[in-house]
Amino acid sequence: MSDTLYQLVYYSRNEVSGDEADFAAQVASILEASRRNNETVGITGALLFNGGVFAQVLEGPLDAVEATFERIQQDARHGDVSLLALEPIAQRSFGNWAMGFLGQSTANAERFARVGLAGGFDPAAFDGQKVHAILRDLAIEEETLAA
Ligand SMILES: Cc1cc2nc3c(=O)[nH]c(=O)nc-3n(C[C@H](O)[C@H](O)[C@H](O)COP(=O)(O)O)c2cc1C
Repeated sequence: MSDTLYQLVYYSRNEVSGDEADFAAQVASILEASRRNNETVGITGALLFNGGVFAQVLEGPLDAVEATFERIQQDARHGDVSLLALEPIAQRSFGNWAMGFLGQSTANAERFARVGLAGGFDPAAFDGQKVHAILRDLAIEEETLAA
């Protein structure tokens, strides 16, 4: 038994069909389940949606991270799930967030532009470290705004 924390980073393509309201409802349902389940198993993280692409960081004990990612991969609301990183970490980056979310609001558009995502999220241009850094920077801004 080890207490080592792991971080997993992936991206995927949105498969939710319908209009903006349908998408918002699905995201609300994803976040509701995420916050409920993640808190129970000690996972924290952040989910980003931009330009039709999700990117997510999950951090926590390895068994919990793996089991959660297994479930996420089966979810028909997204596809082409691509793992970018799975590695041990010294400490959490999203300790306050059972699952933070950054979507495509007007306010976020400016923030995305600041971290180089103005033209949408191009996963091919990013590795796990870069995605993690972007989500961390955005989360820090979000926390500052909320504070
Ligand atoms: C982009 C995306 C991210 C998700 N992130 C999480 C997550 O962090 N934790 C989680 O439990 N479920 C997450 N889900 C939802 C799972 O796929 C699944 O629907 C959910 O865990 C089922 O939970 P329930 O059986 O408690 O309703 C995510 C789904 C999508 C499409």
